[in-house]
Parts: sequence; structure tokens; C-alpha cells
Amino acid sequence: MQPLSTQPYKGTRDFYPADMRFREAMFAVMHKTVRRYGFDPIDAPIIEPIDIYLAKTSEEIVSQQIYSFVDRGERKVALRPEMTPTVSRMVAARFHETPKPIRWYSIPNVWRYEQPGKGRLREHWQLNCDIFGAATESLADLEILNLAVDLLRAYGATDTHFKVYISHRSILNAVFKNELRLAEEKWPAVARILDKRAKLKREAYNELLKAEGVSETQAQELEEFLNGKEDYLKKKPHLEGSAYILDMLQNLSSLGLLPFVEYDPSVVRGFDYYTGLVFEVFDTHPENRRSLFGGGRYDNLVGAFAKETLNAVGFGMGDVTLEDFLRTHKLLDDIPRRVDLFIALLDTGLGTEALKLAQTLRTQGLAVEVSLGAGKLGKQFQEAEKKGITRVLILGEDEVKSGIYPVKTLATGEQVKLRAAEILPIG
Ligand code: HAM
Repeated sequence: MQPLSTQPYKGTRDFYPADMRFREAMFAVMHKTVRRYGFDPIDAPIIEPIDIYLAKTSEEIVSQQIYSFVDRGERKVALRPEMTPTVSRMVAARFHETPKPIRWYSIPNVWRYEQPGKGRLREHWQLNCDIFGAATESLADLEILNLAVDLLRAYGATDTHFKVYISHRSILNAVFKNELRLAEEKWPAVARILDKRAKLKREAYNELLKAEGVSETQAQELEEFLNGKEDYLKKKPHLEGSAYILDMLQNLSSLGLLPFVEYDPSVVRGFDYYTGLVFEVFDTHPENRRSLFGGGRYDNLVGAFAKETLNAVGFGMGDVTLEDFLRTHKLLDDIPRRVDLFIALLDTGLGTEALKLAQTLRTQGLAVEVSLGAGKLGKQFQEAEKKGITRVLILGEDEVKSGIYPVKTLATGEQVKLRAAEILPIG
């Protein structure tokens, strides 16, 4: 019989210890940074009723990417493709008793049936930060953008490494409606073409617009809007969302965030639930010029679960794209193993004594590994070395009696005699 495959399911990853160390280091920065903004952690089941995605999540996710099945009780369920409907459901469930504004975060694994490739997998982890029920919505938007920038700065990134591109959902709709006079049923399709514009060849982009019935004049107006940036908005202050972006840029400037944030009218974001601010964070490295994460304002989603709605803004930041970013810019590298001490045995009979000593040292805060069944001393040193442990305590009968232990630094061969209380964790 053929042995079973050792590969994980397509588009997913096994996390071996070195991978886990990297992931934990990456997540540690997330926890620390978002908690400084007063965010509380939440979590939820990975399975949800499929209905919560049908109405509002992106069309692409629902029709092509969702992992769904019927459970044994005939319920139609899905593995979460994103966290936003779940967090909205949770907010709605405790609508009245939770003090507003609500700042919640989570790092769930989410599932999408995608063609795996660079930066795209079928399972990824995603930091979600969301603010619900702010009295001044634009202030919550500003805080979310500030947090998005600070997160990458917390890894040591600067404005040369990434850029946040912002826009407002209403602007595009207003341009479609008032400037292009485009039939409303065509808006979502044309918006999707714009979303892909950066990745498309010019001709292919033009062809797609034409296929949607966008005329030459309309395409020209669209170009003016896309290339004109703030100047276009200044010329058309009546345009819905225009004043919002111009104000936002002013406020970002006061916070010193303008080197990191720019208005880009082509930012669309593929989710139907966004109602205001939308943003996408891009890596600026020539070899990794891709979207790192994104988010926006979605004021109607809580209302799908409760009588009242609650305004909301947030983002999702994926671990796959973040890891690429951090490695490309050398902001975070492999993390070495950290065990403070290895206890080697001069005699196999001292195993229990070694475990006892290890226990004492562990209560002092050290991470300790004990040789489990001694071979020759040299072999035990090799075991320690292979496992990245830099110090070895050698335990023999005399040491058990005296309570004074030789501790050897493997790299230098230097040896000191210490009592248990004098052995400290490595720096
Ligand atoms: P999203 O743009 O679909 O937004 O995903 C957010 C981020 O998750 C992406 O920018 C990327 O870093 C990562 N990501 C998404 N799909 C994949 C994939 N197949 N493989 C690897 N990484 C991926 C949302 O999910 C919104 N729910 C975010 C949000 C939260 N909006 C408001 N609050």
C-alpha cells in the first residue's frame, strides 16, 4: 500500500516549531500594538450559518470561494471566509449592554477557496480591528487609519516601505451617477473593473469597460477622475464624499500621517457592505508591490442582525502578505529557539534528581530541558547544541550532594560553578 501523503491540504500550511516562532513573534506585535489603542480581544467559532455571508460579503467570495456544506442536521454552514459578519453578529447580540464605542480585535483563521499563489492561500490568519458606534464617525476612521500605520511601524517599517491609499465609496458612485451618467445596474461591474485596473494591461482594461457599455466620453471622464486625484475633488466640491476626503487629508496631516497616506480614487474594495471610507495598504518594494491589507467603513452590517444598526469601521490584515512584507524588507527574521539550560547526566540513574532540579529552576523562571536517558556526555552536549541550547549543566553524584553545579557555555567551553538560585535565564 502507498504511504499516505505528508502534505497538508492544498493551499494550507503546517506550522512546524520555527514557523510557529515566527507567527507568534508577528502576532505578539499585533497584540501589543492594538491593546495600546484600547482594543479588547474576541474570538468565535470557525463555522457560521452560510446566510450571514450571502447578503453582504463580496460576490466573488460567495459564488466562488466559500467553503460550505450541509451539516448532519441539514443546516447550511460555511467555514468563515472573513470575520466581519461574525464580529457584527456578536456586536448585535450584546448591542445594549456593551459600552460604545466598541473596539474589538481578533486573529482568526479564515478560509477561501482560492487558486494558491504568492500571497494567496486557502487558509490564512487575519488580524481584524473594528470600531463600532463612534459618535463622530470620521474620528473613528482617523483612529483606524492611525492604527493601521502604527501596526506596520511597530515592526520597524517606515513611509518608504508602505503606503495607505484611501477613498470613499460615495465618490465613485457620485462620479458614476452625476459625471458619467452611468446606468445604476452597471456600477458594481464597472467598480470591479476599476478594482483590477492596476493589474490589467491598458488595452484589456479599455476592452472590459467597452464590454460593459462604457462609452469613449465616459471612459475619458473616468480617466480624469482617476488621474486628477485631489484636484478633481477640489473642482467638484458638490460631489458626495469629496469634502470627506479633503477633510480627512487635513486631519491626517495634523497627525503627521500624510507621509504614509494618500488619496487614490481607484481604491474600490470588493465588499458590498462598505459604505464610506475604503482603504488598501500597499507594499512599495518593487519585488513585492502588492496589497498588504485593507478595510473600510460599513454602517449597515450590524443592522442585518438587530433592530437598530451601529456604524462601524475596521480592517483585516493577513499573515501571509504581512510575512512576505516583513521578510522582503528584513524587518523580522527567523526567531531562534529559546531554552535557557540543558541538564546533562553523568549517570543515567540521576534522571529523577535532574527532573527535580529542573523543577526548581523552572520555578525561578528558566526554560529547562533534561536529558532523557543519558548517553555519553559528548552526545548529550551535541543534543543540546542541535536544539540551539547554549548552556549545559552537568549533573553527577557530587553535584547532587553539594548543590553546586558546573554550568558550561558550549560556544566558548567556559565553565562556572553555581548554586541553583544563581542560575539566571539567558539575557
Ligand atoms: P479582505 O481584503 O478580503 O478584507 O482581506 C483582508 C486581508 O486578508 C487581505 O488584504 C490579505 O492580507 C488577507 N487575505 C485575504 N484573502 C487572502 C488569501 N486568500 N490568502 C492570504 N491572505 C489573504 C476582509 O476580509 C474584510 N473583512 C476586512 C475588514 C475588517 N473590513 C472591515 N473590517
